[in-house]
Amino acid sequence: MTASDKAFTGSIPQIYDQLMVPLIFEPYAQDLAQRTTARRPRDVLETAAGTGVVTRALHAGLPPDVRITATDLSEPMLMLAKTHFAEGNRMTWQQADALALPFADASFDAVVCQFGVMFFPDRLKGYAEARRVLRPGGRFIFNVWDRIEHNAFPQVVHETLQQLFPDNPPQFFTRTPHGYYDIGRIKADLTAAGFIDIEIETVTHRSRAASSHEPATAFCQGTPMRGEIEARGTPGLAAVTQAVAEALERQFGRGPIEGRIQALVISAA
Ligand SMILES: C[S@@+](CC[C@H](N)C(=O)[O-])C[C@H]1O[C@@H](n2cnc3c(N)ncnc32)[C@H](O)[C@@H]1O
Repeated sequence: MTASDKAFTGSIPQIYDQLMVPLIFEPYAQDLAQRTTARRPRDVLETAAGTGVVTRALHAGLPPDVRITATDLSEPMLMLAKTHFAEGNRMTWQQADALALPFADASFDAVVCQFGVMFFPDRLKGYAEARRVLRPGGRFIFNVWDRIEHNAFPQVVHETLQQLFPDNPPQFFTRTPHGYYDIGRIKADLTAAGFIDIEIETVTHRSRAASSHEPATAFCQGTPMRGEIEARGTPGLAAVTQAVAEALERQFGRGPIEGRIQALVISAA
């Protein structure tokens, strides 16, 4: 992982929230929230909460007396998440690195993290922190993307970028969001961090968009891939986004398009 892979700043949070979240994050947010609420926790911590799609599902699904603490490394992402909530709600918001959580040992019944651990520079440290703040019997519930070959739109975006920049291809997708899918490795990392009861399930959904321009803009401009494209200069962000939209259209057709998305959902105690 490079330092720029976790740069959810500048124009990225807004485009991420408007386009990326409905495209691929919403169904998994409902899934993680349901798994969490089913355990009837009293105190829930969310790490890498981003613009709050899981936070909203937790808020809707958990009884009003349950305390929800939402954290993220990126203050701009968290600021945007807050705008989705009314004043005076029960939420606690805190900027926090998941590798150094500012909470006492055994403070939460569940730690939830949607598509965040791939961005942790030291996953064992992140997992050990989740374990430290969990009460006995508490669970760490999180998800990661499966390999890029099982995720239709990102794969076409990735392949198009390899063709556009043959001498210096951007590798963000395969290095980070789609770079941590090996079940044996995930289990070994969790075991090394002290988790013993580990369940991993493959969950598939469909990703839908009104046209190829939505995923092209979402992936090229609403993720840290944006920085990789901009760093390469010509042909520039707009031209690259257009080329990606055309590649998506060739693959999935004009007008509304859809494709498979696949993730691993993990629950560890
Ligand atoms: C792909 S986004 C997922 C956001 C959100 N969970 C969602 O489902 O939309 C990854 C998030 O991880 C956050 N992140 C990256 N490194 C982190 C760290 N060390 N600690 C906490 N959050 C981190 C980023 O700021 C970003 O908001």
